Amino acid sequence: ATAEKGGFASFMDKEIHDQPQAVADTLLGRFDLEGRLTLDDMRIDESLLKSIDKIVVIACGTAAYAGQVARYAIEHWCRIPTEVELAHEFRYRDPVVNEKTLIVAISQSGETMDTLMAVRHAREQGAKVIAICNTYGSSIPRESDAVLYTHAGPEIAVASTKAFLSQIVACYLLGLYLAQLRGNKYRDEIETVIRELQEIPAKIQRLLDEDKQQVVDLAAKYKDTQSVLFLGRHVGYPVAMEGALKLKELAYIHAEGFAAGELKHGPIALIDEGQMVFIIVPSKNGRDSLHAKVVSNIQEVRARGANTIVIAEEGDEEVRQYASEVIFVPQTATLLAPLLATVPLQVFAMELATDKGLDVDQPRNLAKSVTVE
Ligand code: G6P
Repeated sequence: ATAEKGGFASFMDKEIHDQPQAVADTLLGRFDLEGRLTLDDMRIDESLLKSIDKIVVIACGTAAYAGQVARYAIEHWCRIPTEVELAHEFRYRDPVVNEKTLIVAISQSGETMDTLMAVRHAREQGAKVIAICNTYGSSIPRESDAVLYTHAGPEIAVASTKAFLSQIVACYLLGLYLAQLRGNKYRDEIETVIRELQEIPAKIQRLLDEDKQQVVDLAAKYKDTQSVLFLGRHVGYPVAMEGALKLKELAYIHAEGFAAGELKHGPIALIDEGQMVFIIVPSKNGRDSLHAKVVSNIQEVRARGANTIVIAEEGDEEVRQYASEVIFVPQTATLLAPLLATVPLQVFAMELATDKGLDVDQPRNLAKSVTVE
């Protein structure tokens, strides 16, 4: 078993460290020499894809958070209204779906029954389905119209890590592809994103090499904490929810992710002395107004006694004064930030669970793939 884990203490640890490769492999061979995207597993007619008027992303668990991240990118690049919904909720609410709807079903295993049932329901209404999946020949890709495989390699640990990053990448490839197909409104931005995507694996590696010890120490320090909150905005919001989910799954700690803008509408009542709060700060370039708003959220929770753990872009020195601790991540395009900001949150949950003596590969009550509705 130690050999299978490649010398790591757990599959979870190995899979977190597999992430640079998982992202690189998911990107591999998708661009031609002119930088044009070619999605070879695309079996839906291009003319049909040009005419869709709505995208609905369906998934469960971590895969649904990947979908939530992707929505910001797909809607921005393609200008197609995009919704993200938990597959089990979608299936039983009589959703409006037809021939002009494109369903994107995200599933690591390809066997999640809730997602499969939603796929079947959507196809019965005439929608086309693209599966984003990590498991060749599994049920969801078999029952879909097209597949975009994530090439993360087998994910053994129950809680998802490398599949999550790969799912975001695959969704972005799909978004870029659709944007190209529909006339490339944001040509320059899209070219930048394609270039920056290629740099992500090395940046994740650098993050693992340089930041891991800091996060290990942080987890040891907060080992007995009872509750952790995560705040994020824009693409940082689903990152906050994924950070909270990892902590629930691995360390059995009550954790919740909030949209930072929602803080004042309720969650701020939870803040008192010593409450641990992670804040995912958006990059300063591009959307500076959001940066300032999230920085003021840090001040608000800090003023009420919270311990503020800030995840910010390298060079963002301004946040230091409001942070109990800052974890710096490499700079990248705004929409790509989740591929970096998520990593310390995964490491934090894994290390804290390990410090509590828990089995990080097989948390209690959970299954790797849930094949019942
Ligand atoms: C289970 C796993 C989660 C996973 C979810 C969706 O609940 O414990 O880690 O995110 O299923 O799995 P899928 O294989 O469809 O991505």
